[in-house]
Amino acid sequence: MKHIISPSILAADFANLGAEIEKINNSQAEWIHLDIMDGVFVPNISFGFPVIKYVKKYARKILDAHLMIVNPDNYIEQFGAAGIEYLTVHYETCVHLHRTLQKIRSCGMKAGVAINPHTPVNLLSEIISEVDLILIMSVNPGFSGQKFIPNTYGKVAQTKELLQQKNANAIIQVDGGIDLSNAAGLYEAGANALVAGNTIFMSNDPINTIYQLKCE
Ligand code: DX5
Ligand code: ZN
Repeated sequence: MKHIISPSILAADFANLGAEIEKINNSQAEWIHLDIMDGVFVPNISFGFPVIKYVKKYARKILDAHLMIVNPDNYIEQFGAAGIEYLTVHYETCVHLHRTLQKIRSCGMKAGVAINPHTPVNLLSEIISEVDLILIMSVNPGFSGQKFIPNTYGKVAQTKELLQQKNANAIIQVDGGIDLSNAAGLYEAGANALVAGNTIFMSNDPINTIYQLKCE
């Protein structure tokens, strides 16, 4: 599997969102990452459907939404209708995770599960065959620009092992504090997809930074 880069627009200049999206359109990034925060599951509020609508209108990339919200089931249909292709919910917010994932797929989207830095990978063992994407958080969710937590390498390797054991093949995505110092090591551990916010949008040359983050 090739290396997928998903720029997180949380770090973009929202006053110039059209131009920011156009930069990503012209890059080798395959996806665009949308961080949806409710101020309850995480101590921050980001953006919702009015912004997503315009991202969808201008983006020529796959949209990957990362829901950091409680009760995500209430909004699955709306995300499907908004044109999201990968919808990721947090393990920590879903009491009936299996049902939630089925609902995401029944709405025509690929289903992802994210785990916080403190959540062990083996808690996914009974669900890993039902998901299209596992998101290993490498920061505590809530903000862009945080420092990468190094135990992520081990969690990525464990996820790869679990997938092999179960004969499953979900995408392994890593999110938070990704830069040129950790990208290659994460691919080596087994990641196929990296999210990056600040590293891309604060770069003087985002297109080249995306190219470098691919490490191909
Ligand atoms: C954190 C978000 C991340 C974040 C990434 O809660 O899920 O996607 O925006 O931003 P950087 O790459 O700046 O850590
Ligand atoms: Zn995210």
